Amino acid sequence: MNLDRMGVAPFKSLLRDIMVLPEEWVCETCGALRNETPAGVFESLWAEGFTAQRIEDVQCECGAQAAAKQRGLLFDAGLPHPKAPETFETFQPREGAEPALQAALRFAHGPGTSVLVLMGAPGSGKTHLLEAIGREALRRSESVRYEYAPVLLDDLRASYSDDAQDSTNAVMDRVNRPRVLLLDDIGVGAASQWVQERLTRIIDDRYRSGTSWRLAVAMNMTRAETEAKLGSRIASRLWDVESGRVETVALTCADYRAQRPTARLPGMGD
Ligand SMILES: Nc1ncnc2c1ncn2[C@@H]1O[C@H](COP(=O)(O)OP(=O)(O)O)[C@@H](O)[C@H]1O
Ligand SMILES: [Mg+2]
Ligand SMILES: [Zn+2]
Repeated sequence: MNLDRMGVAPFKSLLRDIMVLPEEWVCETCGALRNETPAGVFESLWAEGFTAQRIEDVQCECGAQAAAKQRGLLFDAGLPHPKAPETFETFQPREGAEPALQAALRFAHGPGTSVLVLMGAPGSGKTHLLEAIGREALRRSESVRYEYAPVLLDDLRASYSDDAQDSTNAVMDRVNRPRVLLLDDIGVGAASQWVQERLTRIIDDRYRSGTSWRLAVAMNMTRAETEAKLGSRIASRLWDVESGRVETVALTCADYRAQRPTARLPGMGD
């Protein structure tokens, strides 16, 4: 029998013919041998005259593919702390942060709203919670995109002055495609009328599209400030707590960084 001229699929069924394969060795997805299969099995394949290259053909690559997909999703997400992940596990319970933590957990694990708005002063933990939401979605293999609003607005502005319309579409695509969009620090930085319209579209699309396309926003503005800065349409979306599409929650805790031991001044008592 010339193994080199056989396709991979018949080869796999041949494998099943010559040996009894315990279920736990066989990948449910592709039918090949899983990597956890004891090495001795591969040795007995050698004894049957299989060549090394062909043994690779009966080894499952689903695990490696899944890992590669995860790496791609993580890269595309553009999370703020790719190396030192901020997660729900590392978020410590603090007074004033509990309602936001619970809302973020609901949003991340479901059943939550399509839009979550986290309001709070600098250092209250907004970005940490956004990243924690993103990491939970990635764990479920959902696509995620983190956008620091001032950078996003700059990119939109730049794409407008490049007269290529493609460039605006590319920015809108990177924001609109992922299942979960994390929009950090909206209201920071100036927005022209045109940029504000794009931002309104981004928020409105998520607001109307149900929980498969979710949006979590972080900001440090009251409703009146949001209206003044970003217009009444964005404000009415972000404060729409009546329809059940939006949850708006405040973090009332002080700056976390100021309370860490390392941030204390010498001579301060305990
Ligand atoms: N409850 C918390 N538990 C652990 N770390 C926190 C907590 N709140 C804030 N931090 C940390 O403090 C720093 C500032 O928080 P951050 O989320 O960036 O605040 P904000 O985005 O609201 O300005 C980050 O390093 C963050 O991980
Ligand atoms: Mg922040
Ligand atoms: Zn497989």
